[in-house]
This record gives sequence, structure tokens and C-alpha cells, in this order.
Amino acid sequence: MASVRLLCSFNKKEAGSIKTLVRAGCNVCFRRNICSSPSKLQSSMSAWVIDQYGTNGVLRYTEEAPVPTINFASEVLIKVNAASLNPLDLSMRGGYGATLLNLRRDPLSVINSYNEFPLILGRDLSGVVVDCGSGVTHFAPGDEVWAAIPPWKQGSLAEFVTLTEYEVSLKPKSVNHIEAASIPYVANTALSALVNVGGLCRESSSNKRVLITGASGGVGTFSIQLLKAWGAHVTITCSQNAEGLVRGLGADEVVDYTAGDAAEQLEMMEKFDVILDNVGGDTEEWALGLLKPWSGAKYVTLVSPLLLNTDSMGLLEGTFHAGFNLHNKAIQNIISNGVFYRWAFYVPDGYSLDEVSKLVDAGKILPVVEAQFPFAQVPQAFQKLEHGHARGKTVIKVAEEDDSWTETAESEQQVQDTAQPN
Ligand SMILES: NC(=O)c1ccc[n+]([C@@H]2O[C@H](COP(=O)([O-])OP(=O)(O)OC[C@H]3O[C@@H](n4cnc5c(N)ncnc54)[C@H](OP(=O)(O)O)[C@@H]3O)[C@@H](O)[C@H]2O)c1
Repeated sequence: MASVRLLCSFNKKEAGSIKTLVRAGCNVCFRRNICSSPSKLQSSMSAWVIDQYGTNGVLRYTEEAPVPTINFASEVLIKVNAASLNPLDLSMRGGYGATLLNLRRDPLSVINSYNEFPLILGRDLSGVVVDCGSGVTHFAPGDEVWAAIPPWKQGSLAEFVTLTEYEVSLKPKSVNHIEAASIPYVANTALSALVNVGGLCRESSSNKRVLITGASGGVGTFSIQLLKAWGAHVTITCSQNAEGLVRGLGADEVVDYTAGDAAEQLEMMEKFDVILDNVGGDTEEWALGLLKPWSGAKYVTLVSPLLLNTDSMGLLEGTFHAGFNLHNKAIQNIISNGVFYRWAFYVPDGYSLDEVSKLVDAGKILPVVEAQFPFAQVPQAFQKLEHGHARGKTVIKVAEEDDSWTETAESEQQVQDTAQPN
């Protein structure tokens, strides 16, 4: 792990009690990484980076990754306690989405030779705010937070991450960092798909029939619980050995797609108001026919060809090709059956996570952590993900939970009080 290289502001001020100094920590304070503003005292951090796209061998551990800085008034710097992996991390390791994501990283990347490396993967985090930009109003150093990191930003397989305060939310109090890190990215994705695109909400779901394909993984296990909390009737598809898990989370009807033709089994059932497709491929060929016709029912898929198209065809042609494809299918389905065909994408949204936090603290959404790896074993965690057949989430313990971070704000206040003239 990175070492602290400079004296912290506490020692420079030479203020505070022994207790405060021990809490504050730096080279002189004996404990490392505990100052309220690590950017003031360390310039490098531990991280897993990639320097090129490829298979697992491209993952490289370093203690020399630059600590991210707060560049905008609305940004917060977060010390990461836990991160989790998503299928997107595997894909991004191999270069998926680079054409569009680089455009978001640097709008001039189309014309200049922008280089995204070294790139840090990891979309979820649970950790502690250690510094805030001057315009931050919702958070203060010491706050325990969780967040899903947009794929165009540096990820959470690192000691520190910078995000805007709008992407961050206070972590639910009833779960630890490992459990919390399993939720944000799948929660923001499910909410985007089910609410923004699927048109469901807490008030409107009680009389709705929803089908979720591929429901035993991250997005599915979250979506089952959310929809059950909202009173929907939930049917899912998964492998036989995931049935216990999904029924435990509340699924009303379970179709084992390995036991025969899932479409045939589902056709025997009453039709659906919304389908959330986590599987893609040929699913849409049979799933659209399972929607209630002429009722405004929606098929929402999380598996769209947009980023694959822009990677293989370039930005303009790829976007046009994907848009044309979407437009055609949408028109065709609305004309022939009166059902909507839609793509959905993860949307960063701290406010939505505030709502999820309440559901977690109310015991209505449980974290589903299938596997946990120490920070030293990030490559093994990627291997686990590569095997597929996820049953919930794979989480990385980035740092030990350390309450001194939450006490730091208090310590800083003590130092300021001590330094104030009477
Ligand atoms: N568009 C976006 O912004 C966005 C955001 C998040 C996720 N996604 C995509 O959404 C999908 C789901 O994400 P996730 O995080 O939940 O993935 P995940 O954790 O890997 O879960 C996928 C699940 O699907 C199951 N499965 C595979 N083939 C199946 C089939 N034919 N029928 C039923 N179940 C099947 C797998 O288990 P078994 O193999 O054992 O059946 C696994 O449990 C992924 O493709 C991901 O890339 C898109």
C-alpha cells in the first residue's frame, strides 16, 4: 500500500491533543492515510490499473497511481473501503466501449491522440468522504458514502476516487462497506431500466406483472427485491441451481431455462406488463410476444449493440447503425403489437441511491454478495467473474474498515477550536 509522504496539516499547525494527533495520522502521527485531506499529504496511491486492453494479464498492481484531485467545486474525494465488479469491468478490460467512453473522457479525443491509460476499472464503491470541493453542500469529511462510478471516470479498484456529489449518496447504516459495495451500480442500472424506461414506480407497480430474464446475477437479484418491495408480481428465468436464491429474494414464479424451452414455459403464463432482459441475444425474438398487446407494455433490454457498434464501426457509423436498428424495432413492435421496444443504460444518480438506501435500511433490499476477495487478489476476482453463472455480486475489500476516518472531521474541528483565539 502507498505510504504517506508529507506531513499533514495537523502537524504543520502543531495543534491538538495527543489523541487528536494519533487520530489525524501522518508520518509523524504514526498512523497513515488518516488525514482529512490525503491529497495534501500523499501524491500516490495503490490501485489496479491496465495499460492496454486485453485478458487478465493486463491487470497491474501499483502503489504509484496518482491520487485523484478535486478539480471542481462540486466534487468529493472518497477513500474506498470496498469495490465490486460487474460484467462491464470484464468488457472494459478488453476495450469494450472505448470509442464512446473516450469521447466522454476527453471530448477532443476524436481528433487528438487521447490516451486513457493507465485506466482504473471498478464501478462500485463504499467508502468515506475525505475532502470536499468548495461548492459541496450534501457531504462533509467523515461521511460514509456509496456510489456507482460512471464508466468514463477512473474506477474504484484504488484507494481514492473523485466524484461529483450528485453521483454519491450516504451509505445505508445497516450494512457494512463490503455489503454496500455490492449494490450501487446494479441499483442505478435497474432503476434506469425499470423506472426511467420501463415506466414503473412504487405507486404504480402493485398490479403489474414483470418478467426478468437472467435474474440470478447482480441486476436481477436487485430488481427482484425492488419490484417485490413495490408490490409487483415477479416472474424470472434462471438456472435450476439459482432457484433457492431468487425465491428467497421474493420471486413469485421461476422458470429454469436449462430444463427446456423457457419461451414455451412462459407462453403458458398470463402475459406481462414489463420485461427486463438481462440476457440479450435471441431473447427478444420470443420475449416480445409475451407482453400484453395494445396495452403500452414494454420490453426493456440492458444488452444493446450501441457500444459494440461504435467500437467496430467508429463513432458516427456505429451510432447511426445502432440508432437505425433501435428505431426499426421500436416502430415494428408498436405497429404490429402495440408494445414498446427499448434499450436501457446505467445512469449515475446519487439521489436514486438515497431511496435505495432507505429500502436497504428498512430490510427490503438485501445485499447479495456471492464472493469476496482481498485487494491483493483482484485478478482472481476477475477470473471468478469470467466463469459466469453469477449468483449476486463479487466484492473486493480495498481497505480495512477504519472508524478513524469518520472521527477525522471531529478531530479537525477540535484542532480548529484549539487554534481559535478566545
Ligand atoms: N446497459 C447497461 O448500462 C448495463 C448495465 C448493467 C448491466 N448490463 C448488462 O446486463 C446484463 C446483466 O448484468 P448483471 O450484472 O446482472 O450480470 P451477471 O451478474 O453476470 O448476471 C447474469 C446472469 O444471467 C444468467 N444467465 C445467463 N444466461 C442466461 C439465460 N439464457 N437465461 C437466464 N439466465 C441466464 C447467469 O447465470 P447462469 O449462467 O448460471 O444462468 C447470471 O446469473 C449483462 O449482460 C450486463 O452486461 C448492462
